[in-house]
Amino acid sequence: MKQSLIALVLSIVATLVSGAAWLQSKQTVHRAPVKAEEPEQPAYPLENSMARMFRLTWKLGRALDQGNLNLAVFYHHEMDAITEEIVVHGVLHEEKPIGYMTSLMLQPPLAQLEENLERGDLIKSRTSFMKVIESCNTCHTGVGIVHPPITPPPPLEPN
Ligand code: HEC
Repeated sequence: MKQSLIALVLSIVATLVSGAAWLQSKQTVHRAPVKAEEPEQPAYPLENSMARMFRLTWKLGRALDQGNLNLAVFYHHEMDAITEEIVVHGVLHEEKPIGYMTSLMLQPPLAQLEENLERGDLIKSRTSFMKVIESCNTCHTGVGIVHPPITPPPPLEPN
């Protein structure tokens, strides 16, 4: 008698425990969506993009020096992509709207350069290229970036 009572109590306890576990699992499934913390956006790597842009500027300049329009188109395309990234990300640097400034200052001369490259006009492409460089420096000076002025690539040393 006593034993069957213990068995009964145990089975009730077991039922309760499994029921509670079941409920809990249901609750886990149906838990109201918790508003996730906004993940902190990693800062846009502007310095890195600028360094890439600088290398591309020299490569593009070299391609123009050598009259290689296809190569110039390729480097222009790369610069265009980085520039667009900076604009789309709305990059801020020390609270200055670099993304927006880039759309006003750098994208127009780059578009002009693209047009002249597409026309195959080497002379005008070179003029546009100098305008692009001017835009780099106008922004740097305006924002107060301490960096040597951006220049076209130095002429190749003859062997
Ligand atoms: C609208 C503004 C703007 C324009 C246009 C711009 N830059 Fe910059 N540039 C910056 C800012 C801001 C920094 C500083 C970034 C930092 O240190 O985080 C910078 C830094 C740099 C640096 C230094 C990176 C380093 O490693 O310290 C180079 C090189 C550079 N820019 C090249 C260029 C070239 C080349 C162009 C044009 C094709 C250009 N930039 C156009 C705003 C601009």
